[in-house]
Amino acid sequence: MENGINPNTADILATIPDRKQLREMRVQTNTQLTPRYSQIVLVPVDRAKMPRVLPGQFVQVAVPGSTDTMLRRPISVNYYDAVTGALTLLVARAGRATNVLADLSEGSQLNILFPLGNTFPLENLDGKQITLIGGGVGVAPLLYYSAWLKANTSATVRTVLAARTEGDVLLFDRFARYAPVAVTTDDGTMGIKGYAADSPVLTEGPADLWCVCGPSPMMKAVAALARKRGAECVVSLENMMACGLGACLCCVEKTVKGNVCVCTNGPVFNTNELTW
Ligand code: FES
Repeated sequence: MENGINPNTADILATIPDRKQLREMRVQTNTQLTPRYSQIVLVPVDRAKMPRVLPGQFVQVAVPGSTDTMLRRPISVNYYDAVTGALTLLVARAGRATNVLADLSEGSQLNILFPLGNTFPLENLDGKQITLIGGGVGVAPLLYYSAWLKANTSATVRTVLAARTEGDVLLFDRFARYAPVAVTTDDGTMGIKGYAADSPVLTEGPADLWCVCGPSPMMKAVAALARKRGAECVVSLENMMACGLGACLCCVEKTVKGNVCVCTNGPVFNTNELTW
C-alpha cells in the first residue's frame, strides 16, 4: 500500500482524470440511525492531500469481499469536512453489498473512488430563496448542501424531509442546524400527513430554487409542482450505476439533448433538461 492506493485497483487510476482519487479510508464511526440506515464517517488512512469535494457529488465504494474492483456502489456524499478530510456517507440497506457496508465495524478500511459527478448549484445564490426537498436516502446529499449554503451564501434556505413514517425521518436535528425543517410522513405520524409535494412549504412557500433528491415518483411530483408554481427545479438522479466513469452506459438518462450518462453529466440536472 502506498499513498492509500490499493495496488489491485491502481491500474484504473490511469483511466481517470487527475482530480479524482482512489483512496483507502478508515471507518471512524458507524452509527445506525434506523434499522435500515447507517451513517458512516470515513477518514483518510494517510496524509496525502484530499481532493475538493462539493455538494451533490458522490463516491464509488468498493465493497469489502468483492473480487471485482470495477463494480462499486455509488453513494452520495452526506457531509464532508475539508479540514479533517472526514467524509460521511449514508448507507441504506438494499441488498448484500449495502448490508456489508452498513455492518462495517469501526477501524475497518474501504477503498473509494471520488469525487464523482457534478454539483448542486453553487453560484449566484446570494439572496435567493432555496428549498431543499429530500425523501428516503435522498436526503443524504442535501445535508452537505445545506451546510455549504449556510457557510458560503446569504441564501434563505428551507428544508422539507419526506418519509413513510416518523421512524424513517432521517437526520432531522442535523438539518435543523442549518435551516428550518418541515416534515411530511405518509401516515401523518410526524409533520404533515402526505407526500413531499403536499407540504405547504412547496404549495405556498417561495417558488425560487428547489433542489430535490429522493425516489423517482417523489421527484417527478415535486418537479411537476415546481413547473406549475414557476420554480427552478434541480434533481439529483439515483439511476443504477456500475463504473461511475462514463464507460459502461448503464446509468443513461434521456434528456432533451439526447441520452447522457448520469454518472458523468449528472447526477444533478435541471428538470428543464429532462424529458419528464
Ligand atoms: Fe458506467 Fe455511468 S455508471 S457509464
